[in-house]
Amino acid sequence: MDREKMDKIEIASKTGDPLTSVADGLVVGVWEDGRMAQDFRKRLDGALGGEVSRILENGEFKGTSNDVFFLPTMGKLPVRYVILAGLGSREKTTPELIRRISGTVARAARSRNLASLASTLVSNQDGDAENLSEAIVEGTLLSLYRFDQYKSTDKDKKEKGKKSGPSSRDLASLQIFSSREAEKKVRKGIEWAHAIVRGTYLARDLGNHPANVATPSMIARTASVECEKRGIRFVSYDREKLEEMGLGALVGVAKGSMEPARLIQLEYRPSKAANVRPVLLVGKTLTFDSGGISLKPAEKMETMKGDMSGGAAVLGTMTAIADLGIPLWVVGLMPATENMPSGTANKPGDVLRAFNGKTIEVINTDAEGRLILADALSWGVKKFDPALVIDLATLTGAVTVALGAHAIGVLGNDQKRMTEVLETGEKVGERGWQLPLFEEYFEQIKSPIADVQNVGGRGAGTITAAAFLSHFVEGKPWVHLDIAGTAWVESDEPYKPKGNVGIGIRLLTHYLGTLAEDKDLRKPEKRDSRKK
Ligand code: BES
Ligand code: MG
Ligand code: ZN
Repeated sequence: MDREKMDKIEIASKTGDPLTSVADGLVVGVWEDGRMAQDFRKRLDGALGGEVSRILENGEFKGTSNDVFFLPTMGKLPVRYVILAGLGSREKTTPELIRRISGTVARAARSRNLASLASTLVSNQDGDAENLSEAIVEGTLLSLYRFDQYKSTDKDKKEKGKKSGPSSRDLASLQIFSSREAEKKVRKGIEWAHAIVRGTYLARDLGNHPANVATPSMIARTASVECEKRGIRFVSYDREKLEEMGLGALVGVAKGSMEPARLIQLEYRPSKAANVRPVLLVGKTLTFDSGGISLKPAEKMETMKGDMSGGAAVLGTMTAIADLGIPLWVVGLMPATENMPSGTANKPGDVLRAFNGKTIEVINTDAEGRLILADALSWGVKKFDPALVIDLATLTGAVTVALGAHAIGVLGNDQKRMTEVLETGEKVGERGWQLPLFEEYFEQIKSPIADVQNVGGRGAGTITAAAFLSHFVEGKPWVHLDIAGTAWVESDEPYKPKGNVGIGIRLLTHYLGTLAEDKDLRKPEKRDSRKK
């Protein structure tokens, strides 16, 4: 489903007896040992003639994590199906597991044409009702995302293997059952999930659109529409202006392309903002990375339309925090351009001058992300004097070598902030893993003729990229997130359909939520400058 349809799904918190629910499917968790929350097993057995126990005892369904079983109720309960959802071993029932199983359930329900679901997956763990209900809604809505705008016929728009026909229905309602005491938390969880999912759908769309559509100007236009709806201040700087501003590294990358570049600036400043200096988010918005003169091989080059995922995450996060009214002053910057080979493109060996005056020898034109970030970071720091800088970028293939698809590479100059980001990631199911930024790595990016060069040789590619960026944050507290391994999935995962993941929005939205409570950010005086 698309963004509009997703926004129309009715999501409600319910108290009372789930067994009286009138949805198409009632989702009930089952652990590996056959236990179910509350007295569901006994009561379902009572209503369905012992069928749940028979299924479990026969091993037809084992409660294995992420396994589902649709049990028709034959009119014996108001719901048409009881959907048994495997939770695995009891100790491991985390919100992330609930997010995944809710995604798997939602897709299975879609292939059966069920239009309404009621979930009881919060019921047994009311203490964590907020996170669990958020996970249920996120898992459900994120799993149903589809990008089929370029399919011409309705038939092609259907999920593979799904029968076409007039009765084909999208999910219309989702109910979340909890105790009366937990209801307030459930409502909050639903609200957060909705804002995060809305931002993620937007980011996924931008990442899945081909690069001939999602150009820097299209992204700027989209951002401006979304900002207008929410009172976020929007400014877009064009090529001429960027040259005038002295953003020589960004302009350098852009000059190989016919597609006009942009620096997109978003500012969310609610009147009740807790901080006196803003948080600056910077996202690499490279709308197509061919590698430039240092051209990439043809295989999988089409996925480089997703090289703007960092910028998409910044936009999605800005919309989410505005929708939630998080009381924090946040500025987002999205340097947007293509990286193309041409007669006007950067050549290996060219020297560029970044906004902060540092000269950069371009050894490899494919290491372009750090060039555009260098300018966005140093310009943003100068203009906004932020209390904290966070950048997100599909920056290095090397981060996939190091961490695969299961963790964001986290680097920076402020251990406290990095630790906080890692902790938030763990909680919300967008994990990071820290890599070191030892002094020694800086040797690798010394240039014989300029202040710095844009690549650091074979070893530690993710680290030398971050070392390069640190030259442009002017000692401000800074966290760098390398999302090259996590921004894109090659095959469907429970709540990540093949394609752009929309990574980083859940992590950043929650992290900014915690920062709204951060006392350090209320102080007007500057924090110590950190060393590189
Ligand atoms: N956009 C790429 C990084 C990337 C690779 C993202 C694979 C997603 C999937 C980046 O601009 C790049 O080309 N990096 C080079 C750096 C190298 C030339 C030092 C890389 O990783 O190969
Ligand atoms: Mg590149
Ligand atoms: Zn790139």
